Amino acid sequence: MAEHWATLGVDLHLEPTGPGLRRGLTDALREGVRTGRLAPGTRLPSSRTLAADLGIARNTVADAYADLVAEGWLTARQGSGTRVAMGAPSALSGQRSRRAASPTGPARFRDRSRPHYDLRPGTPDLASFPRTEWLKAARRALAAAPNDALGYGDPRGRPELRTALAGYLSRARGVRADPQRLLICGGFAHALTILGAVLRDRGVHTVAVESYGLDRHRDVLTAAGLRTVPLPFDERGTDPGRLTDTGAGAVLLTPAHQFPMGEPLHPDRRAAVVDWARRTGGLVLEDDYDGEFRYDRQPVGALQGLDPDRVVYLGTASKSLAPGLRLAWAVLPPGLADDLTAARGGLDTCGVLDQLTLAEFLTSGAYDRHVRSSRLRYRRRRDALVAALAERAPEVRATGIAAGLHAVLRLPPGTERSVVRSAAWQGLGLYGLSFFRHPDAVTERLDAVVVGYGTPPDHAWAGALDALCRALP
Ligand SMILES: Cc1ncc(COP(=O)(O)O)c(C=O)c1O
Repeated sequence: MAEHWATLGVDLHLEPTGPGLRRGLTDALREGVRTGRLAPGTRLPSSRTLAADLGIARNTVADAYADLVAEGWLTARQGSGTRVAMGAPSALSGQRSRRAASPTGPARFRDRSRPHYDLRPGTPDLASFPRTEWLKAARRALAAAPNDALGYGDPRGRPELRTALAGYLSRARGVRADPQRLLICGGFAHALTILGAVLRDRGVHTVAVESYGLDRHRDVLTAAGLRTVPLPFDERGTDPGRLTDTGAGAVLLTPAHQFPMGEPLHPDRRAAVVDWARRTGGLVLEDDYDGEFRYDRQPVGALQGLDPDRVVYLGTASKSLAPGLRLAWAVLPPGLADDLTAARGGLDTCGVLDQLTLAEFLTSGAYDRHVRSSRLRYRRRRDALVAALAERAPEVRATGIAAGLHAVLRLPPGTERSVVRSAAWQGLGLYGLSFFRHPDAVTERLDAVVVGYGTPPDHAWAGALDALCRALP
C-alpha cells in the first residue's frame, strides 16, 4: 500500500490552504498518470486517507478524483476503489486537457525550492498531527478557563500548563521541575534568545557549543552579543574536557541525542559537564529537543536531574507535536527564573488558548498517546531505512542510536557533495553533514548526510526512501 501512495510524491507540493486546491490536486494527479509515475491499474488511497495525509478537506480530494474520472484518467468502481485507468497514459496522452497541457500550471507545483520529497530534518510528520484530539482538548480547555485566563496573565505562562508540564517532565524525563521556575516560550529559539540576553547581562561573553549543531541557534547567541566556541567531537561524542580552556560561561548541549550526530553524551562526560559548571559557576543549557523518541530502550534521563541549580532544561513541542505551535518550555535554576521573567517582560508571551490546550492535552493523557503512536511510526521508518541501506547501499551505514526523527548516514570519503547533488536531481531535499558544522570546528571532517525520516507524510515515505537509495553510492 505504501508503495502506491509513494507514487503520489508530487502531492508533497500541495499547499493545504488557499484557493485552487482542487485544481492543484487534479493537475498533480493527472501529471502523475501522464508521466507514468502512477501506473495504469494503481489503486489510489481513499479520499479520506489522502485528505488526512495532506491535511485538506475530504471533499476536495473526492472532487479532484471525480474530475479525473470524468476526464478518463481514473476509474472508480464500487468495491475496488479509485484506480488509474488501464488506458492511461498512452491512450490519453494525446488528448490532455488544456489545463494539463499548459506549460505553467499552478505556481506551487513549479516552486523549485520545494523538493518532491523532503528528508531535511527539522519537522515531524505534520500530516499525523492529532487534529481531532487537539480540537477536543481546545474545546474542553476553553470551556473550563476562567475569564481572567484571557487577560495578559503571568509572564512565565499559564499556571495550568506549567503545572501539567512539571508533572510530565518529572515523570517522563526525570526533570526536577517546579512550576514556579518553569517558563513557557514561543519555541526553543525564543527561550534561547531570552537566555542569551540574560547571560550577556550577567557578563558572559562566550558560550561553548557542539561542533555539529544548528546554525540558527548559534546565530541566536551571536545576535545576543555572545561568541560561540565549538567543543571537540570524537568517537565518544562531544568532548567537554576543554571547557575550562574556552573561558565559556555557559555550554549548549543536546545530551540525550546529539543533534545531528545521534549519540547520547557519554556518562563520564555528563558528569564532567556538571562538574565544570559547579567548579566555575557556569551554566549548562540542555536542549532536549527529541528526548521522548528512543526506540531501543528507555530514554536517557535529563541531565538537569543531576544538578537543577546549574542546568537549564529546555524542551519543545516542535518534534512531539508541530513546530508551528511555537511552544517550548524552560526549567530554570532558582536565581535565573526571576531574571528571565523580568527580561521577557509582560507582553512577550505565548497565546493563552494554545497554552491551555496543551495543558489539557497533557493532563488528559492525549500527549502520551500521541507520543507513543509517533514513536511507533518513526521507529518503523528508521527500521525501513536501515533495512533499505543494507540491501541497496551496503557502503553506507546509519550511525547513532535508534532514536529521534533523523539519522546520520556515513558515506565513503569525498562523496558527500555528489550525493547531495544527486539527491537534488531526484527532487529530494537532503542536507550534507557539513551544513551543520561549526565554522571554527577542528574536528575531523566526515562525509555524511543527515536524513530526516520524520519529515515526509506516510504516503510519501516509501517514495522518499527509494529516491534516497538512488542518490546514495
Ligand atoms: C537541535 C534542535 N533543538 C531544538 C529544536 C526546536 O526548536 P524550536 O522549538 O525553536 O522549533 C530543533 C528543531 O528543529 C532542533 O533540531
